Amino acid sequence: MSAILIDGKAVAAEIDARAGERGKIVAQTLGRAPCLAVVLIGDDPASDVYVRNKVRRTEAAGLTSIEIRKPASLTEDEAIAIVRELNDDNSVDGILVQMPLPDHINANRVIGEIHPDKDVDGLTETSAGRLVLGKPGLRPCTPAGCVELAKRALGDLSGKNVVVVGRSILVGKPAALLFLEQNCTVTIAHSRTADLPGLCRTADILVPAVGRPQMIKGDWVKPGACVLDVGINRIDAPERGAGKTRLVGDAAFDEIVGHAGWITPVPGGIGPMTIAMLLDNTVTAAAMRAGLA
Ligand SMILES: NC(=O)c1ccc[n+]([C@@H]2O[C@H](COP(=O)([O-])OP(=O)(O)OC[C@H]3O[C@@H](n4cnc5c(N)ncnc54)[C@H](OP(=O)(O)O)[C@@H]3O)[C@@H](O)[C@H]2O)c1
Repeated sequence: MSAILIDGKAVAAEIDARAGERGKIVAQTLGRAPCLAVVLIGDDPASDVYVRNKVRRTEAAGLTSIEIRKPASLTEDEAIAIVRELNDDNSVDGILVQMPLPDHINANRVIGEIHPDKDVDGLTETSAGRLVLGKPGLRPCTPAGCVELAKRALGDLSGKNVVVVGRSILVGKPAALLFLEQNCTVTIAHSRTADLPGLCRTADILVPAVGRPQMIKGDWVKPGACVLDVGINRIDAPERGAGKTRLVGDAAFDEIVGHAGWITPVPGGIGPMTIAMLLDNTVTAAAMRAGLA
């Protein structure tokens, strides 16, 4: 058996287009298109690429964006002041502060300042609390993208055994809660988990979110399982030429693709879905502000 490749890029394009259509409806009430503000502090090259992609995709979908770039020398108080200003700005529906922040800025404090109704990254305490309590709210984008792809691949997820490897606030924990919301039986694994390979083999849906290139080996994956590879790791690729690199996931794709049921590639799997869910959240935030949701 050979795994079905889940084309995150194609699904993301569909969700972007849907967000654009929903955005047009919301614009009729708001008098303007839904607007995402993206704040980038510092000069991390990867963050720069992520922010450019987010802005590009937002505008391609017919939504508007504001890009605020500040040097790494910005103080924590100045970062908080930017967020407060965006909270008060009626032309802004969603606020995203690109992580990581420079070391001298406490990310929790800055994120904590984002108004929950504009928290399109779903990372504030209020959004996390709503998720835990099962109340409606803006959900974290990467985990929401995982669930969306799993539903498209498998249909009803009720009763599926899900193993999420990683327990970060950004991915692992919210992913586990979102799969629980789908009536899955969820286990969260982490660096202290005993017999990780054995645990992974119990998964109908395996979600590696660790940040270790190709750590999930072929014989850790149950035949027919669905592997949603969140990891994005840059490794050397001498086969492409001296000094060249390439992106790989946390799953050893070549070892798994022959017997899994479904697998997301890296790149082109969960990554594009993260931005799609961000656009979806931005339109939802705008719709809430317009009294439409
Ligand atoms: N596709 C996307 O759009 C997207 C979005 C966000 C992140 N990512 C990628 O996803 C990966 C994870 O991101 P993150 O922010 O969640 O990372 P993180 O905050 O560093 O968390 C990593 C998690 O992996 C666990 N871990 C580390 N080594 C392990 C091991 N040997 N066995 C089992 N678990 C282990 C850690 O466990 P402990 O808690 O015990 O230390 C931790 O919970 C990264 O590659 C990141 O680039 C992708």
